[in-house]
Amino acid sequence: MSNNEFGKIVDFIHFLIENTYKQKKNLNFIDCTAGNGYDTLFLCKIAGIDGNVLAFDVQRQAIDRTKKLLSDNLTYVNYRIINDSHGNIDRYIKDDIDCAIFNLGYLPYSDKSLKTEPHTTIKSISKLITRLKIGGKIFIATYIKHDNGYEKKEIFEYLETLNNKEFNVINMKILNKNNYPPEIFIVEKNA
Ligand SMILES: C[S@@+](CC[C@H](N)C(=O)[O-])C[C@H]1O[C@@H](n2cnc3c(N)ncnc32)[C@H](O)[C@@H]1O
Repeated sequence: MSNNEFGKIVDFIHFLIENTYKQKKNLNFIDCTAGNGYDTLFLCKIAGIDGNVLAFDVQRQAIDRTKKLLSDNLTYVNYRIINDSHGNIDRYIKDDIDCAIFNLGYLPYSDKSLKTEPHTTIKSISKLITRLKIGGKIFIATYIKHDNGYEKKEIFEYLETLNNKEFNVINMKILNKNNYPPEIFIVEKNA
């Protein structure tokens, strides 16, 4: 499903998720930033017919695009698309979570002022980590150019405070890419 090209961080995240979860049953996934729906579609395919995917976006346009992409590409409905902020994620989660994705920033080819904000992103992460299964993971793709790395810095400073007996926190970036290379964070619940 993913093309194994590690230079594109979203593809790298998909590679990790596919290899961690494929063939597993009754998965609970969350796409915290649905956008054009590509990550949601990917999660729906990995979760399969017995899995469950929640996807959030604050923009009506993103919700409509995601719903269309899913209905055009899936023969089953294992998802719920929610037009609300991921800051309110706790209102919608019923069962503990295997995996969540944040693909931060703004909707491509859209209003760049409607972007993710560090305070809300961190609020959402802090709620999600209380609902992760043991071994559950949060993947966060952060971009640098649009806000000079402000959101990435705030997330870094929050994640480095997480208890290392309870969570593994990983930060990766592409070292040799020019022009604001994006970074990945992974949070894994280990106890
Ligand atoms: C980079 S795009 C996501 C790309 C998407 N995952 C895809 O596969 O196309 C970021 C999205 O986050 C959304 N967003 C911004 N703030 C949000 C919030 N508080 N809660 C949920 N979504 C938010 C934006 O509207 C935008 O659609």
